[in-house]
Amino acid sequence: MSLFVRKDLGSLLAEAGSGTLKRELGPLNLVTLGIGAVIGAGIFVLTGAVASQHAGPALTLSMILAGVACAFAGLCYAELASMIPIAGSAYTYAYATMGELVAWIIGWDLILEYSLSSSSVAVGWSGYALALFQEMGITLPARWTGPPGSEVMLPDGSSVSGIFNVPALVICLLLTGLLIIGIRESARVNTAIVIIKVLVLTLFVAVGAHYVNTANWHPFIPPNAGEFGAFGYSGIVRGAGLIFFAYIGFDAVSTASQEAKNPGRSVPIGILGSLAICTVIYIAVGLVMTGLVPYQQLDVPSPIALAVRATGVQWLAPIINIGAICGISSVILVNLLGQSRIFYSMSRDGLLPPVFSRLHPRFRTPHITTAVTGTVVAIAAGLFPIGVLGQLVSMGTLLAFAIVSTGVLILRRIEPDIPRPFKTPGMPWVPIAGALICLYLMAGLPVLTWVRLFVWLAVGLTIYFAYGRFRAATLRRQVIPDVA
Ligand code: ALA
Repeated sequence: MSLFVRKDLGSLLAEAGSGTLKRELGPLNLVTLGIGAVIGAGIFVLTGAVASQHAGPALTLSMILAGVACAFAGLCYAELASMIPIAGSAYTYAYATMGELVAWIIGWDLILEYSLSSSSVAVGWSGYALALFQEMGITLPARWTGPPGSEVMLPDGSSVSGIFNVPALVICLLLTGLLIIGIRESARVNTAIVIIKVLVLTLFVAVGAHYVNTANWHPFIPPNAGEFGAFGYSGIVRGAGLIFFAYIGFDAVSTASQEAKNPGRSVPIGILGSLAICTVIYIAVGLVMTGLVPYQQLDVPSPIALAVRATGVQWLAPIINIGAICGISSVILVNLLGQSRIFYSMSRDGLLPPVFSRLHPRFRTPHITTAVTGTVVAIAAGLFPIGVLGQLVSMGTLLAFAIVSTGVLILRRIEPDIPRPFKTPGMPWVPIAGALICLYLMAGLPVLTWVRLFVWLAVGLTIYFAYGRFRAATLRRQVIPDVA
């Protein structure tokens, strides 16, 4: 029975107001936090592959489709986060709606979204940083810039075998240190980075628009090449599934809702505002990029840099590099923040050891959980290549989105009278559409990614049945003797 015990909303709301984490963040901080988590490796790296292999100039239609899917989920997140402003985000919403077992599953699943995306994005960061170092004449020992067994290219065209990706490790550890020092300090650094990356992308659009050759947009939807996902309409859908990665992160705003001032208003503004701004930027960048270079040529790791070269505007290239390096680092920062807040909530509920919810006496941040998370993420970033990680991140995130959308429907039914500072419009169709689109996009991901998801969930369930379940029940007995 205790597998399906639900957390009652009264105690959740009391927890939200119990004033342990610092309430420092206003709506603007939350919008920048969302943009910080969203704009990164997806737009700076992935867009090239989507345009050249799947959608052509209709990359922008893929972006719109993925943006619409995220908007449905975003509206559902906004309702739940304004109603239950707790750091645990989707994990906590599941605890209130579907019970402890589903909550554990989603909490475990969110590790894929937050920790794994930090690691994979740190690998992307390392690539851009190394290119910048090289331009500045600084060379690092090549074997220490790639994961074990990888082939690291040398400037003379030869290659060596990698041992460990040290730059990826270092950026994760630096950002972990910042997160321990304080939420306000982290938010300030994030805001500065967001301003830089938004300015850089705006500059790219403004300058690039003058050099667009509209012939590159014809045909806007290249004809299908004979198989599903290779151009044509199916290519747009496949492209949307891939470019979805570029939107991941706006939901991280909800993990900061326990540190938000007036969360009922500011958190929905943060989630929906950041999503809207990123969608507009993505569409503009996608249009200019495919207008500057024939889409067939965009299959490179730095497609925006390639598009800049096509303009011939020399001074813009290093600026784009700096924008990418800044942009990607804030994605790592905000995802690490989200992960540590979810562990903090799970530990307070007894599903993880108490050390995970201990706060630093002065900084009032969950310093131990942040340090442990940051170190594990940093080591993973040093050891693994970026490739398959990205698909697992998308899978984990889509599952979380589907559960959050379903959670809105359930809570409207079982708790119709609880005040909802923000209400999802278009009930019940928006959450239903949100859940269905997420399941559809999940179905399009490779079988191997599904296998990896199930293996990951099986490991999680073993931990739950061996540890979390008993400790959570003990905690419940201490708080409300007749529930457990
Ligand atoms: N949306 C994030 C990125 O594109 C994960 O880097």
